Formats: sequence, structure tokens, C-alpha cells
Amino acid sequence: MDIKKIFRNNQEWAEKRRSSDKDYFKRLSKGQDPDILYIGCSDSRVSAEEMMGLEPGEAFVHRNIANLVPNTDLNVMSVINFAVRHLRVKHIVVCGHYNCGGISAALLQKDMGILNPWLRSIRDVYRLHKAELDSIEDHEARNRKLVELNVEEQCINVIKTAVVQEAYFDRRLRVSGWVFDIHSGMLKDLEIDFESILEKVMDIYRIRR
Ligand code: CO
Repeated sequence: MDIKKIFRNNQEWAEKRRSSDKDYFKRLSKGQDPDILYIGCSDSRVSAEEMMGLEPGEAFVHRNIANLVPNTDLNVMSVINFAVRHLRVKHIVVCGHYNCGGISAALLQKDMGILNPWLRSIRDVYRLHKAELDSIEDHEARNRKLVELNVEEQCINVIKTAVVQEAYFDRRLRVSGWVFDIHSGMLKDLEIDFESILEKVMDIYRIRR
């Protein structure tokens, strides 16, 4: 790919935006007020805004390998804190995707160097759900199940945070788990039971009194 092409694309895009709405960038520069925080995978095939049909300004986005929410990762924790406390988003979504390289890598018994501690979070999800996963014989199906279970576990990690617990009681902030099916382009809502997860999480991880 010619990197200069990106600048030509950008110029065309900015001109197109301006020609259909001359105040477009003026309005954009005034500030953001997104309703949703999207936490997804860095995978180049899963473009957050495009597949959700959202415009610039509509989603606050965080992406990393395999859409993880480790409680000690300052990056994702800062994103959640900022989105909830300052942007006051109404919804947090953790979105995984089938054929995720991070999930597949975690299933390999292999030294992945600097990625080891990152992938360990996924291996921990495997350990938590080992019986269920091992009962699935088909390799592909097992991989897909781990993608879904990983999304659920990362949703739980989001719910463990003080800001999210506070925002739920304050203004009914909700957390959802989705999977993007790369074979069809469709988004699937895993319909996690937010209230019952919150209740269970708060038995142990209650931060708000
Ligand atoms: Co991925």
C-alpha cells in the first residue's frame, strides 16, 4: 500500500464532508458527547465505527489484542474511567470477534515472548471454563466458544470497576457483550445478564457502599 494514498483519501474525505455540510468540522471541533464506549479487538478487519454504522463523535473507542480488560492495565482502565466519569457514556460494549488471532494464539502451547502476559488473561478464561471448553470436540467450535466466554469475562472485568458500579446506581449505565461474526459481517448480542452478573460481582468486588 502506498502510504501517500492515505493523504489523498483523507483530502477527498474532508472535502466531501465539507461540501455536504460546511459546518461539519466546526461542529466536530466543539467537543464530543458519545453515548457508547466500545472496547474491541485491534484486528484490522473489525473496524468499529464502520460495522456499527456510527459517525465520528458517536463512539468512544478502545482497541487492543483480543479486547481484554485486565484490571492492572492502566490504558484500558483510564479509558473506562474517562468515558464513564467525564464523557458520561450510557453504554459500555465489549466486542469480540470470531477468528480472533489473539484467542487462537492463547490456545497454542507456545512461548509468544512479550505477548505471554497479555495472552495469559485469555488462558485464564480457558482455565475458568476448562470443563465446558474441553467438552467441545470440534476445534473451530471450541475456538468460537472461547471468543464468547472471553467477551463475557471481560464484561465482568468492566463491572468490577468502581466507576461502572457507581454509574449503574447513579444513572443505569449498562454493559453489553457482543461478537462480530467475520463470516457474515453480523453483530451478535451475547445478551449477558448484566444485573445478575453485577449482583455476583458485588458479592466479592463491591466497591460502592
Ligand atoms: Co482479534
